Amino acid sequence: MVALTDASVVVLVGPMGVGKTTVGKKLARVLKRPFIDTDALIVADHGEISKIFETEGEQAFRRYEEDAMAHAISSPAVVATGGGAVLSELTRGRLKAQAIVIYLSTDGRHMRSRLTGGKRPLLKNGFEDWTRIYEERKPTYEATADITINTSGHSLSVTINEIKQKLGVA
Ligand code: S3P
Repeated sequence: MVALTDASVVVLVGPMGVGKTTVGKKLARVLKRPFIDTDALIVADHGEISKIFETEGEQAFRRYEEDAMAHAISSPAVVATGGGAVLSELTRGRLKAQAIVIYLSTDGRHMRSRLTGGKRPLLKNGFEDWTRIYEERKPTYEATADITINTSGHSLSVTINEIKQKLGVA
């Protein structure tokens, strides 16, 4: 689904640290719709993500993520997702039917410095893990996306302008 209407929900997918939340917040202001971050929804309902991975495991997190995604895309909004949200076939089906999916891609430059802080349970080995996981998921991001935006080395305003252009927003 690509044509933007007042009823559209716009969903940002892509690897950890690419800027889905930053771009999403700005895009929501531009498109005048609410911003929803599915990681934040999960934290509000179930607590810190690293704790969920530790105590309940990744499978439980993915179930919470499926629910958060279903809720987030149920009304017009701009939605920033966790990097693994598209791993769920159920979620991918819902996205195809209900959303305009924008994949924020990157060639990896500047990523090393963005991944510091250690809040992401899947990045125990930092950039090495990030690279491996991104390579594994690239085909899924590509298959799920209606629009791909290459963000490599681009400023927020350049990225927003490219998205606006692809969505046909003046
Ligand atoms: C994950 C990405 C994270 C978060 C969780 C798992 C992933 O979100 O949902 O740590 O599997 O890629 P960000 O993409 O916002 O870092």
